Amino acid sequence: MHQYKIAVIPADGIGKEVIPAGVQVLETLAEKDGTFVFNFETFPWGSDYYHQYGKMMPKDGLDTLKNFDAIFFGAVGHPTVPDHISLWGLRLAICQGFDQYANVRPARILPGIISPLRSRGEKDLDWIIIRENSEGEYAGVGGRAHRGHSQEVGMEVSVFTRSGVQRIMRFAFELSRQRSRKLLTMVTKSNAQRHGMVMWDEIFAELSMEYPDITTDRVLVDAITTRMVLHPETLDVIVATNLHADILSDLAAALSGSLGIGPTANLNPEKKFPSMFEPIHGSAFDIMSKGIANPLGTFWTAVLMLEHLGEKQAAVKLMQAIETVTRAGASLPIDLGGQATTAQVTDAVCTVLQQS
Ligand code: IPM
Ligand code: MG
Repeated sequence: MHQYKIAVIPADGIGKEVIPAGVQVLETLAEKDGTFVFNFETFPWGSDYYHQYGKMMPKDGLDTLKNFDAIFFGAVGHPTVPDHISLWGLRLAICQGFDQYANVRPARILPGIISPLRSRGEKDLDWIIIRENSEGEYAGVGGRAHRGHSQEVGMEVSVFTRSGVQRIMRFAFELSRQRSRKLLTMVTKSNAQRHGMVMWDEIFAELSMEYPDITTDRVLVDAITTRMVLHPETLDVIVATNLHADILSDLAAALSGSLGIGPTANLNPEKKFPSMFEPIHGSAFDIMSKGIANPLGTFWTAVLMLEHLGEKQAAVKLMQAIETVTRAGASLPIDLGGQATTAQVTDAVCTVLQQS
């Protein structure tokens, strides 16, 4: 019997609602399967913790997390805590501290879901966005000088390293290999940004020689937004910088039906450190405590966690259960045009799992 130690960090806002729902679904799945169990340990870190202790997590937080097989994470962001503090104090501290350099964001129009691209259905949009997750525009390099004076400067420096670019591209090539279309699109802005972005182009061209079986494609970040909307079927795996992919993944989630659906894996592919799994939506304080948050993004995130743990069959089963519920349509959450509460959507998925 496999035992998985999972660190649970619901953190802020609706993270506290969708993560317990995800735990319930995972427990139902494990019980039914009978070949593995989860040991969940929940940590109360986040903005409430910050209000009490002046930091987002304890100093030795990463040491504590190091011993887990995976981290199941909700969302960070609180109206009274500056975003750069909550982000750098918890989510980025974990991503960067554990070298989770590959951020994987699938987007798909699930059965029964109506995309804002009205004429488009399941077969037209099936992407995986690979986001560089350790450097680039999120490197945290830069500075401020002459604060408050008219000559004040603020510099935000993007850092791209050959090894950093190579490893994320290699990851994207390998992933494309596992998909039927074997199509990889790389996004840059190398017409305007002539240093780091041109290096991205060069490294991509070099690596593509090693992967002759993969069809490659280069698109500028502005141009790909129109491609995503007008010709979604021309894309499959997309690799982009930290910031570009951040923006594109919100668009991708919206086009697939709702921001409430999108999942994320922050992977340390070598498994030297635990990886972290989180829904793409934020803390959504506007709908907090109403019981209406969409837990499907968290369930899909749990699918990614199961895949990473090596529980492939269980991952397929959970994805099928999610799709059974979306296809049936009776238990859709509000953001997907239904009326179901978080608890009702969760129960619907658990019922399908129990019957499968
Ligand atoms: C995401 C989010 C974060 C990011 C925010 C919360 C800073 O938008 O995971 O996409 O930009 O990385
Ligand atoms: Mg984002």
